[in-house]
Amino acid sequence: MSEKKTPWLLVIGGGVLAGLLLLACLVILYPLTRPISGSYRSNGEQIYFTATSQRGTPITSDLRMGMMGSGAWTCATCHGADGRGGTVRMMMRLFETPDIRYQTLTTSEHGEEGEEEEHGHEPYTDADIKRAITEGIEPDGKPLDWPMPRWTMSDEDLDDLLEFLKTLD
Ligand code: HEC
Repeated sequence: MSEKKTPWLLVIGGGVLAGLLLLACLVILYPLTRPISGSYRSNGEQIYFTATSQRGTPITSDLRMGMMGSGAWTCATCHGADGRGGTVRMMMRLFETPDIRYQTLTTSEHGEEGEEEEHGHEPYTDADIKRAITEGIEPDGKPLDWPMPRWTMSDEDLDDLLEFLKTLD
């Protein structure tokens, strides 16, 4: 009898032990799976750099990059960590992104000499900036060119993002 019981006890004991080890691993590794949260000073900053919200609300864009996946592309990838824009390489193509710091967008002197036609625009208002982000439309009604994506996010997240653009200098 006892010879028959022992293996079962071992199996159960081993199972419980393995379960505990797994649980311990999960507890230790869990914070590592979310390196993003908490490392940004504001939700707007997190959205700018990661295209994810601390609220957990979804943020998506219509950017289709085939194999590259759209998830890798955030405001920061294209407009730079400082929001000043620059030259970006994507899919073997080079393109220029504009300076999207709040002061730049809201002043009329935007656009470099001679580039007025291409990049210049009327001063943005807060509502214009939100429209540019969600609908890809400039203050004067012109559509923004590829590859500026059209973004879908909650109003609260959009407000946070705008607040973050105001902090860039
Ligand atoms: C894949 C690259 C890419 C990503 C990602 C991207 N943008 Fe853009 N964005 C552009 C390009 C390129 C333009 C310029 C389009 C044009 O000149 O017509 C632009 C234009 C803009 C403009 C208008 C600027 C102006 O001078 O009229 C705003 C505002 C803007 N982006 C904000 C954002 C924000 C906020 C995010 C993140 C939520 C973002 N963009 C993500 C590429 C990108």
